[in-house]
Amino acid sequence: TIPVILDVDTGVDDALAILFAVAHPDIEVLGISCVAGNASLERVVENTLRILDVANAPEIPVAAGARRPLISPARSASHVHGESGLGTVHLPPSSRTPEPVNAVELMRRLITDSARPVTLVALAPQTNLALLLRQYPDLAENIERIVFMGGSASVGNATAVAEFNVWHDPEAAAIVLDAGIPTFMYGLDVFNQVAIDREVATALEDGDSAAGRVVGALLTNRVARGESSVAEYTGLIGDAGAICALVDPQALSTRMLPVRVELQGYGRGQTIVDQRSRVGEDTLHGSIDSWEVVEVTLDVDAPRFAALFL
Ligand code: BDR
Ligand code: CA
Repeated sequence: TIPVILDVDTGVDDALAILFAVAHPDIEVLGISCVAGNASLERVVENTLRILDVANAPEIPVAAGARRPLISPARSASHVHGESGLGTVHLPPSSRTPEPVNAVELMRRLITDSARPVTLVALAPQTNLALLLRQYPDLAENIERIVFMGGSASVGNATAVAEFNVWHDPEAAAIVLDAGIPTFMYGLDVFNQVAIDREVATALEDGDSAAGRVVGALLTNRVARGESSVAEYTGLIGDAGAICALVDPQALSTRMLPVRVELQGYGRGQTIVDQRSRVGEDTLHGSIDSWEVVEVTLDVDAPRFAALFL
């Protein structure tokens, strides 16, 4: 099994990812750290505990972390994910309780105590991870790699060029990239491709399995608004695709590419991915210090990931 810590802002996407990660026999979820993003920190923690109930999960420690980005102002994403962060899906309160420590301390403890190197799976703004890696840089020795849903080698969503998780806390993303830990980027290029057909989602929503009904409802909530502002079903599995990447990497095309996070101006939050064949040309124009080589996913066998998720 792959020992993982999930860092989440639950969130419809994160809910789908948690349900999948807990259910997959090759993944051992050591703990979950929560951060503000798709919803307020309190909602994220509560949604996470409720989703663990839906998943019928064993006891998994959950802790609250950062309630706002390092430098950017706190911003609400309720226009995308609703006030609750789970759209129109309402779940009963959980009897689980969060750990009485900050998420950074929970992660430190889990990484230190793990007999095997841990994979950090970041599905949210990377504020918690940045704080952890700045506070305890030596933990890198027991971190296998960082797999993050975020960034893009092409289109943005929060802005024309920036993906939400990186845009929400660009300094945090830059700090995490700089930590010297092998990094795998599951960005919008692939995130936007993996979807479940509407008939399948509706059948799940009307089916016999309690968890399946919640998954179906979360999926049928997945809509995009085009120019007409009419909501159109997309069925994206979202952050759950980053979990698929852990267990079925062969379905992805990836390249080792230099990446940097833009921190200034309109491009703030953009992941600039250098896909030129002659990498390093920037030495002609100045420093290339802030580039880090990352394994970037550029394409996915989307039906294969959709089938795996189902
Ligand atoms: C990412 O931001 C959030 O909306 C989703 O949960 C996902 O992690 C996509 O940009
Ligand atoms: Ca997320």
